[in-house]
Amino acid sequence: MNSPREHWGSKIGFILAAAGSAVGLGNIWRFPYLAGQNGGAAFIFVYILCVLAIGIPVLIAEILIGRTAQKNPVGSFKVLTTSKFYHGIGGMGVVAGFVILSFYSVVAGWTIGYLFEAINGSLLNYDVAEKASEHFFVLTHDPVWNVLLLVVFMILTMGIVYFGVQKGIELGSKIMMPLLFVLLLGLMIYGLTLDGSYKGLDYLFNPDWSKINSDVILAALGQAFFSMSLGMGAMLTYGSYLTKKDNIPVSSLWIAFLDTSVAIIAGICIFSVVFATGQNPDVGPSLIFRTLPVVFAKMPGGWYFAVFFFFALSLAALTSTVSLLEVVTAYFVDEKGWKRKNAVIVFGSLVTLLGIPSALSFNALADFKIIGKTFFDLTEFISSNLMLPIGGFFIAIFVGWLWGFDKVKLLVKEGSEKLFDKFPWLIIFWKIILRFIAPVLIIIVLLSSIGIL
Ligand code: TRP
Repeated sequence: MNSPREHWGSKIGFILAAAGSAVGLGNIWRFPYLAGQNGGAAFIFVYILCVLAIGIPVLIAEILIGRTAQKNPVGSFKVLTTSKFYHGIGGMGVVAGFVILSFYSVVAGWTIGYLFEAINGSLLNYDVAEKASEHFFVLTHDPVWNVLLLVVFMILTMGIVYFGVQKGIELGSKIMMPLLFVLLLGLMIYGLTLDGSYKGLDYLFNPDWSKINSDVILAALGQAFFSMSLGMGAMLTYGSYLTKKDNIPVSSLWIAFLDTSVAIIAGICIFSVVFATGQNPDVGPSLIFRTLPVVFAKMPGGWYFAVFFFFALSLAALTSTVSLLEVVTAYFVDEKGWKRKNAVIVFGSLVTLLGIPSALSFNALADFKIIGKTFFDLTEFISSNLMLPIGGFFIAIFVGWLWGFDKVKLLVKEGSEKLFDKFPWLIIFWKIILRFIAPVLIIIVLLSSIGIL
């Protein structure tokens, strides 16, 4: 009846695919601006703690659920538990994917807009910070520009998911991801040669501990989930294409390492320029779009750098949006019996509609605020800072307490026997994190952020 489930061709194939989902606008656009809004080094310190103490253990748990059940998020919980509540947690992941996609595609649209500007050369005119900021302001104040690019990006995403995730995008991302990495390294080196860039390093790596408060910790935790694509079943789904031979803990470490290094390198690029050009670090989502053009305009070979950079960034965003729409599509195909193409058209269009108020949050709806946030900020906050950590909380509880840890222990050891033979305490460490540390930390952070603690 059913054809056997496809599996990743190689170990490195899985790591690269998962890193491809993880690395995206979250690393290059979101991480630097959050660091800028939340005090720089203090935020980065808390962020790395969140990745190590919560992100990696939850990543292992999520992949393990997927590998064991060999299904999408809702289907996996249906295989593993009769609890309707957990089927609902899978469902919340699908909703989170839907909401994240709606605001993510707005920013992804900007990257395409900037790619056009880079190609026709106009981007190179913005050689000082004020001009680049003003240009970003002018562009994003145009509702038509925003909505049009959102639609273009959603059409690209839907096109790929519609025809199935083919060789094209896999091959494309295998070339573009390393290229993005090399370009970032190049930018970083150039950025560090600018006068005053050392102030950026100071800002990024010399923490002012007084800056840490519950908002900073919530932002760091939300960002760890967002950047590692955790808490909504995306990694669970990728894990469902793994076999028992794959080493989950080691792969997870690699994914976390690649994801975090790209974010830190992007941070160095941006903040060396921010400080060398005397800009404000805390301007929010516009940060990279105000700073990068200045570097491209100044550096030798800037046109090529700019074109390749925005092309690679658009592609990195596309590999992330594809994985988000794929979760929504797979749910309606597997669980509700929809035809793939219908699911893509219906839900892709609905996501685009939900994205429109986000696209208008920078212009027509800029003054329309709910609890002090624009529609864009609100959807970003609810999905990343609330839904993802809540999803992560219940994943940790499920694997730590409900699934049966004796079974879990055997399952996670499959493919990584040597590692656990050598370091038997790792499993105890992981268990303590999943049972106590991750859930307690997530709850404290969530409650304090909504003002209860
Ligand atoms: N992690 C991606 C980024 O950093 C975004 C992303 C893709 C995502 N899939 C996800 C975030 C699933 C949360 C959940 O750009």
